[in-house]
Amino acid sequence: DSVDKGKYRHYMLKEIYEQAWAVSETLEGRFVNNKLQDTAFGHNAAEVFDQIKSVLILACGTSYHSGLVARYWFEKYARVPCAIEVASEFRYRNPVISADTLVVTISQSGETADTLAALQEAKKLGVKHSLVICNVPESSLVRESDLVMMTRAGPEIGVASTKAFTTQLVALLLLLIAVGRRFELSRELEDKIVSELFGLPGNIEKVLKLDEAIEVLSQRFADKQNALFLGRGTHYPIAMEGSLKLKEISYIHAEAYPAGELKHGPLALIDAEMPVVTVAPNNNLLEKLRSNIQEVSARGGQLIVFMDETLADAGDENVQIIKMPSVANIISPIIYTIPLQLLSYHVAVLKGTDVDQPRNLAKSVTVE
Ligand code: AGP
Repeated sequence: DSVDKGKYRHYMLKEIYEQAWAVSETLEGRFVNNKLQDTAFGHNAAEVFDQIKSVLILACGTSYHSGLVARYWFEKYARVPCAIEVASEFRYRNPVISADTLVVTISQSGETADTLAALQEAKKLGVKHSLVICNVPESSLVRESDLVMMTRAGPEIGVASTKAFTTQLVALLLLLIAVGRRFELSRELEDKIVSELFGLPGNIEKVLKLDEAIEVLSQRFADKQNALFLGRGTHYPIAMEGSLKLKEISYIHAEAYPAGELKHGPLALIDAEMPVVTVAPNNNLLEKLRSNIQEVSARGGQLIVFMDETLADAGDENVQIIKMPSVANIISPIIYTIPLQLLSYHVAVLKGTDVDQPRNLAKSVTVE
């Protein structure tokens, strides 16, 4: 039964461990001969995709973070103009928006009041096409959207969203293919994304093996009041998601920064009491990130770096490296999310908080 905790102590841990399965479910039946079908988004999806000139993503919280990753993907890989905004801001600022924009809402519950109101506002402003990425069939957002891509993560009980986030990223990669084909996504890249998606459940299983090492690491956070998360490019939103998870369930104040911004202010916060978590996959920003790591270490900051296993260690006593399986850039944000989920989980358990029902929060925010 998917709403039973089974052998796990908390729903959140169970849901973290369900991610390989949830990704496979989300991919199921979307392809014919390894080719993504437009109809996966609805019977008239091809007609809609043919007309759109840009994408606007609206969401809240963790769902907003998956949209932030997608913005990098849409523009970098397919030259699809893509904007994103927190739904609670969009709905009140009377934005300029053109009718041929595809409004994409992202929501685990499909009932988030701000996201629903933002979609209604976009329609009022003249937008003709909407699509939702959602985990709950028959929810309000599903009913109010023209096109639908369901994440099939199963019920998510823990207030801290985990498997909904990773399956949202999978759904967004499918959307990148479908929309990107009409822009500049190459056939080669499309095939590469598809093969990486098929290999994703196996890579998730690999990264889950880091659980014990991360549990040990979590002890370094138990007595801390603050933490900083750094990333660059598609991994900046992953740092944001890591910091949201930590504050949500462990009540440690955490902030995320794009690493290049450090010297513009946050560097002043660095001392031995401020753990700095860095996501450092092997991509074109790695060298830049290495120098950001140096900036922190030289000031006595304690770094925890999640890094590709093929890269050489920094050999610095202030830097603790956790080696990650080497994966393709395109799926790396999904893979690097998982150790951050495990880290917050173990810190929260150590602190004795209510992991599945953190104080002051509701699973679905149906009021303003
Ligand atoms: C995530 O851990 C949070 N509980 C929260 O930010 C959540 O993602 C947000 O409220 C949006 O919910 P939705 O995806 O159901 O719309």
